[in-house]
Amino acid sequence: MTQLSVNINKIATIRNARGGKYPDVAEAAKNCERFGAQGITVHPRPDERHIRYSDVHEIKPLITTEFNIEGYPNESFLQLIETIKPHQVTLVPDPPDVLTSNAGWDTKANQSFLNTVIARIHEAGCRCSIFVDTNLINTEYAIQCGADRIEMYTEPYAENFVKDKKLAVKPFLETAKLAQSLGLGINAGHDLSLENLAWFCDNIPFLDEVSIGHALISDALYYGLENTIQMYLRQLNQKT
Ligand code: PXP
Repeated sequence: MTQLSVNINKIATIRNARGGKYPDVAEAAKNCERFGAQGITVHPRPDERHIRYSDVHEIKPLITTEFNIEGYPNESFLQLIETIKPHQVTLVPDPPDVLTSNAGWDTKANQSFLNTVIARIHEAGCRCSIFVDTNLINTEYAIQCGADRIEMYTEPYAENFVKDKKLAVKPFLETAKLAQSLGLGINAGHDLSLENLAWFCDNIPFLDEVSIGHALISDALYYGLENTIQMYLRQLNQKT
């Protein structure tokens, strides 16, 4: 069964627009779980423009499902991981100034760096997933880096889905099959939505997890958070 992890960064973005504590990010995390999400994802960036490090500390004891922390593994991020010890860490290669993650790791070029970082994450007792541009080489080298999972960067899938959905999913299916044969778990994320999620998951039924933020939180404006989470779960063929 593919698990739904809700990325709650957007809720922090709304809160930060006015300062104060509304909407309450920790409360939102608890509610996402209550409404059926099987995980919570946060992406604290160095400038804390979305999720703050203090949010991560506040959320950790409140949630009972999988806690996934994404980010670029600089020293302060790694120290946060060693303190919080989430279930999963997703390594993202984004520089501090980008608006959102817009590329995955080249795991061949960064093998030695990723090796060192992943060893440290494993030492803290966390599973480690690497956000990758979807291709076979990155998948093979993810194993060399010591990763437990890959997260396939699905922005190209979302972009091509509207033109030709069969063609759009093909490279992702090939990569996922290789990952599965190598014993890697498989996550996916970026620009997944109510429009394109079911096709992706029906074609890659052995996907472990999808991490969804922007579209899900935007849909919640119209349908409400509870309905929206249920709608996404139904796209994943889960009875709600
Ligand atoms: N996965 C990773 C690694 C990301 O950086 C993001 C965006 O923060 C997502 C998934 C979720 O993407 P979206 O907000 O487009 O659903």
